[in-house]
Amino acid sequence: MNLNKTTDPSVINFKELYSLQGKVIIISGACGLIGRAFCESVLQFGGHVVVADIEQAYPEKFAAELEKKHHIPCMGMSVNVSDKQSVIELKNKTLEKFGKIDGLVCAHQNKSHLKFEPFELVCEENWDTVIEVNLKGTFLLCQIIGSYMAEKRSGSIVTMPSTYSNVAPNQNLYKGTSLGCPAAYSASKGGIDALSRYLASYWADKNVRVNMITPHGVWNHHEEQFEKNFAQFSPMQRMSYNYEVAPALIYLLSNASSYVTGLNLKVDGGWTVW
Ligand SMILES: NC(=O)c1ccc[n+]([C@@H]2O[C@H](COP(=O)([O-])OP(=O)(O)OC[C@H]3O[C@@H](n4cnc5c(N)ncnc54)[C@H](O)[C@@H]3O)[C@@H](O)[C@H]2O)c1
Repeated sequence: MNLNKTTDPSVINFKELYSLQGKVIIISGACGLIGRAFCESVLQFGGHVVVADIEQAYPEKFAAELEKKHHIPCMGMSVNVSDKQSVIELKNKTLEKFGKIDGLVCAHQNKSHLKFEPFELVCEENWDTVIEVNLKGTFLLCQIIGSYMAEKRSGSIVTMPSTYSNVAPNQNLYKGTSLGCPAAYSASKGGIDALSRYLASYWADKNVRVNMITPHGVWNHHEEQFEKNFAQFSPMQRMSYNYEVAPALIYLLSNASSYVTGLNLKVDGGWTVW
């Protein structure tokens, strides 16, 4: 981005700052609840999307649907973010097709955390899987794709921690439901938060910005009791929708946030203010 050394805001096209026209954005976990909203919004702002997700999520099919709808070239690829070779292939194939990478969005997560195990009984295997996918996956994506960006001296990375990186889950939220949030999820997300801050400072002089989006309670046909509990503890008294998270991504990927790095942009309805 060419910066304008001026004090005159009238020479700036503010709408244009939000454009993603021609930018190539890799999104991991792109077939998920929030990932799908991210893909749609990036395409609406003119960006090319690389849909990266596990084979079982059919990323190639989703990318083909997006391309057909938006008439913008996209790419779908089966990727396991916790496997180094798989992430290297993601980088190489994206460069083969588009010749550049402008943005990386780490929106994957391991689902096994939804099976609530009391902390006293957590098995090592489940702990390892959550940490491997959530934290190591984010590390590998940042290392392999972020290093490319640092070399090119341009790029925007967005990672996804959780409110549970900052505050503990209110256990009353889960009363009367089959849901829960295990410690491994909080621990992996706390690691993502720390890693993102580290990289924001590490790559600041390489023009690679690293920011975070923290959503909270995104509605996905939850049990009625859970929705009721959630409303009781949330300042805004409701859950959020995936499309309410996506505008934050446009801001962080675009030139509108050119002086923003290390930010954790919380889209949590005020959950963490009280
Ligand atoms: N939904 C929420 O309320 C909420 C709240 C806080 C944080 N988050 C975070 O936001 C991000 C997106 O959440 P979501 O609700 O869309 O999750 P989701 O479970 O709907 O989607 C996650 C996606 O990650 C993919 N994935 C799983 N393992 C993978 C692997 N090894 N390699 C590549 N992809 C893999 C899944 O196939 C899935 O498509 C996650 O990091 C999540 O932890 C979500």
